[in-house]
Amino acid sequence: MNITITSPDHPSAPPASLTGVGFGRVFADRMFSMDYTPADNWHNARIEPLHALTLHPACCVFHYGAEVFEGLKAYRRADGGVQLFRPIENGRRLFHSCERMDLPPLDPDAFVEAVTDFVREEVTWVPNEPGTSLYLRPFVICTDTQLGVHGTTNAAFYIIASPVGSYYPKGLAPVRIAIERDDVRAVRGGTGYAKCGGNYAAAARATVRAEKAGYDQVLWLDGVERRYIEEVGAMNMMFVIDGKIVTAPLEGSILAGVTRKSILQLAQDMGYETEERRISVQELFDAHARGTLTEAFGTGTAAVISPVGEMEYDGRSMILNDRKIGKISQQMYDTLVGIQRGKSPDPHGWTVELQLSDQQFALCDSCPERLGSVEMSHADLADGILVIK
Ligand code: COI
Repeated sequence: MNITITSPDHPSAPPASLTGVGFGRVFADRMFSMDYTPADNWHNARIEPLHALTLHPACCVFHYGAEVFEGLKAYRRADGGVQLFRPIENGRRLFHSCERMDLPPLDPDAFVEAVTDFVREEVTWVPNEPGTSLYLRPFVICTDTQLGVHGTTNAAFYIIASPVGSYYPKGLAPVRIAIERDDVRAVRGGTGYAKCGGNYAAAARATVRAEKAGYDQVLWLDGVERRYIEEVGAMNMMFVIDGKIVTAPLEGSILAGVTRKSILQLAQDMGYETEERRISVQELFDAHARGTLTEAFGTGTAAVISPVGEMEYDGRSMILNDRKIGKISQQMYDTLVGIQRGKSPDPHGWTVELQLSDQQFALCDSCPERLGSVEMSHADLADGILVIK
């Protein structure tokens, strides 16, 4: 992929600390952009100063929600290097999301290349405070300008980046979840498995209602019988029942989370029994009454592992593990984060460490010990425009 690289006239500095900054509130000063036309396919890849997008008001993304997105993170390693976690999984999911929404799919390998080159250029924005990372938000939009309802002809792909701490302001403190009775997020055959903005827009009303009642998130039930657990707005859900780790199956209406998949694998590695099957709300209340529902936690890229301290449904409440993080939730968190940050062995080869040039390392004040010991990149600098071949 040929990527034209330009820098802002006045580069901005990453925040000195992310304490109190909030999730997704500050942004790296460059973005990755690429255009799609039927004649040229995906082309004109560029890393350029972050800027507002100028789109015609009839652009179909505004009217018909023709948009899909991803979320992944770049992590600072203890040795100063930077790595991604399973980016090919995000590339594959974006491909399927594009197909579902009739947006031009991007080849998953090209996706990984774009993400990798972008993070390498924005490496100074990967924070190194404990618990922080550079959250990457790739997205594809339809750029056609017409009010008729059609498939997509022209599109654009972007990646923006935001240095973040924890998704929930209270960090790893157990969250309160309201199980939604009325609104439905998705149904099988719909767009639930695609990571499209519409799924999240449809979730907003119930989420705000729950927040006003003092809850952190909404847990969705299946759209047909309204009995079975699906997912929480920003994460998949796992329950520890009778010592087994149980989660809802991927039947088309919930997102195939990369963290979900990783935790199922890690749990099996640790010898836990795992089950992907339907879980009714009644089963949870029954197991809770018997004392066999011992923990619940959410899994997601943004949320990582989020222990659940309380769940409410129709006026009934379940307090879990005395509102404290459970043993298995903590074990999963430590193991996953250890791999993501390069502190623990990575037996499945999930992490992708970036090869940084001396120049890129020199820009990064946290990694002096590696200077001179890394591969040079194939970057040429000419007239202020850096072209990666
Ligand atoms: C992620 O975990 O990356 C997500 O996309 C969830 C988002 C709604 C914050």
